[in-house]
Amino acid sequence: MDRDQLAEHLRFAAELGVAGVSRDPAWRRRAPEALEPARSEPCTSPAPLEPLSTILSALGPCTRCKLHTLGRTQIVFGAGNPNADLMFVGEAPGADEDVQGIPFVGRAGQLLTKIIEAIGLARDDVYIANVIKCRPPGNRNPEPDEVQECEPFLFRQIASVRPKVIVALGKFAAQTLLSTDDPISRLRGRTFEYRGATLVPTFHPAYLLRNPSSKREVWEDMKLVRRLLQS
Ligand code: URA
Repeated sequence: MDRDQLAEHLRFAAELGVAGVSRDPAWRRRAPEALEPARSEPCTSPAPLEPLSTILSALGPCTRCKLHTLGRTQIVFGAGNPNADLMFVGEAPGADEDVQGIPFVGRAGQLLTKIIEAIGLARDDVYIANVIKCRPPGNRNPEPDEVQECEPFLFRQIASVRPKVIVALGKFAAQTLLSTDDPISRLRGRTFEYRGATLVPTFHPAYLLRNPSSKREVWEDMKLVRRLLQS
């Protein structure tokens, strides 16, 4: 990291609410929070390794749900390091993602990139996917039948990447992955065992664009993610 990048990194950390930095090693030695079991089915044995390319081929030019008739430009499968320790799961592609075929490339995506960089990683270090692979019209919430058809492919992606930590971005991803109706305000701040990983729910970057004061909580979540990755 050069001087300019460091300055930008510190500026963003300050924007997230970081009041200062310390080189004291004690600062790094906080115990990770106790893990709570997820309410969804736990992963009991490691799934056989399936490359992401096989999952993409299985998905094909998908017509399993109505979204293929509702104006999607293309499927947005996922992007990043296929062996990442850290995976982010969002809700569904928006307009920019639909055009580019890459998750989180719009305004919310640019903020996600900054959040990733704030813990010393690059986008290429992590894997990013969504619960739903096609853009819902007008960015409406995905519907249950769409989730039901699409989520098996996300589960296969998780089994393929085998991340140590999964960050669920926002209410929809967190509730879907954890099979719960609990509000994000109750889910964030906790961790869950999930399919062999630790799942950390946090606020969606699009929510942060509307509610910048919540960046502080996301920064807390990302510090926890960093500790979990180091542990
Ligand atoms: N919001 C999401 O949940 N996913 C994207 O890919 C972009 C915006």
